Amino acid sequence: MSPPVNAPVNLPANPPTSPIVEADNLSRHYTVRRGLFAKPATVRALDGVSFTLDAGKTLAVVGESGCGKSTLGRIVTLIEPPSGGRLRLDGQPTEEVTPELRRKVQLVFQNPYGSLNPRRKIADALAEPLEILGGTSAAERRDRVLTMLEKVGLRREQAERYPHMFSGGQRQRIAVARALMPNPEVLVLDEPVSALDLSIQAQVLNLLMDLQDEFRLAYLFISHDLSVVRHIAQDVMVMYLGKAVEKGPKAAIFATPRHPYTRVLLAATPIADPRRRRDRIKARGELPSPLAPPPGCPFHPRCPLANERCRVEVPGLTQAGAQLVACHAVEEGRD
Ligand SMILES: Nc1ncnc2c1ncn2[C@@H]1O[C@H](COP(=O)(O)OP(=O)(O)O)[C@@H](O)[C@H]1O
Ligand SMILES: [Mg+2]
Repeated sequence: MSPPVNAPVNLPANPPTSPIVEADNLSRHYTVRRGLFAKPATVRALDGVSFTLDAGKTLAVVGESGCGKSTLGRIVTLIEPPSGGRLRLDGQPTEEVTPELRRKVQLVFQNPYGSLNPRRKIADALAEPLEILGGTSAAERRDRVLTMLEKVGLRREQAERYPHMFSGGQRQRIAVARALMPNPEVLVLDEPVSALDLSIQAQVLNLLMDLQDEFRLAYLFISHDLSVVRHIAQDVMVMYLGKAVEKGPKAAIFATPRHPYTRVLLAATPIADPRRRRDRIKARGELPSPLAPPPGCPFHPRCPLANERCRVEVPGLTQAGAQLVACHAVEEGRD
């Protein structure tokens, strides 16, 4: 006998969902003038970056200043459109930015001095995003402001104070609270602790991890410092001159970094245990100007493993162990 047509189907308890952020080959080019008579030049601030980010997870984006991290952050928060490629948020295309899409992703900057208006009380700064969204009464907004202040470890009565009355760490808590007011699903954290003392950094990182659990937030965590992302990220993407050069699970990247640039970055981070001290790998020279990126592999002028192929052919990301790496030397097994 065949089963009845309406027999209940055994659905998995947690049906698979699409990633909250899907970035496919994103690029962003800027035209800049270098002088009155010079021809305009193109900066490839972001040059074909792809990744996915799942709800409740953290992807760390690391690399030296100027490699395109903030540009990527502005694109993911819909502040500016990409020049090429596609961005989907919660499964939806973002070519047309709706208020609902804008609500889903919020940005926290490195410098909360700049992002908080010095003449506005904290209560007003936090209520503002809700006012813009509409649909709430002043009493409701007030209530949510006070609740949110407690969630980030501040006291209700501090709502009546002005930004200058807070320490750097407290101000960053306020910036996080403000970003959370519209109930986002993704936070882009652009160097959120880089301006803080080490002990305060740890407190803010712990707060971010607690908030992530409570609200099931996805984080795109931008940092120039790999050691900062060690405890907070599940995945890491290393960028160099607008491109991803290595990405994969954090554990693999920290234990067996493959790209020579990742190894340089890791060698530059302090390691507490001297027995685990890595061979010091040094990159030669300086970061090239993104106005005149080198041909071939962008890292080749600084790379100890570079050969002729590296000078002419751009390496694509290929699987190497648990991670993806864009390096001819790794691909050929001469790393
Ligand atoms: N609005 C802009 N106009 C021209 N160049 C820009 C603009 N924004 C960023 N850039 C350039 O793009 C590159 C990447 O910048 P950015 O994304 O800020 O890097 P990061 O955050 O990693 O330091 C840099 O060379 C920067 O000078
Ligand atoms: Mg930046």
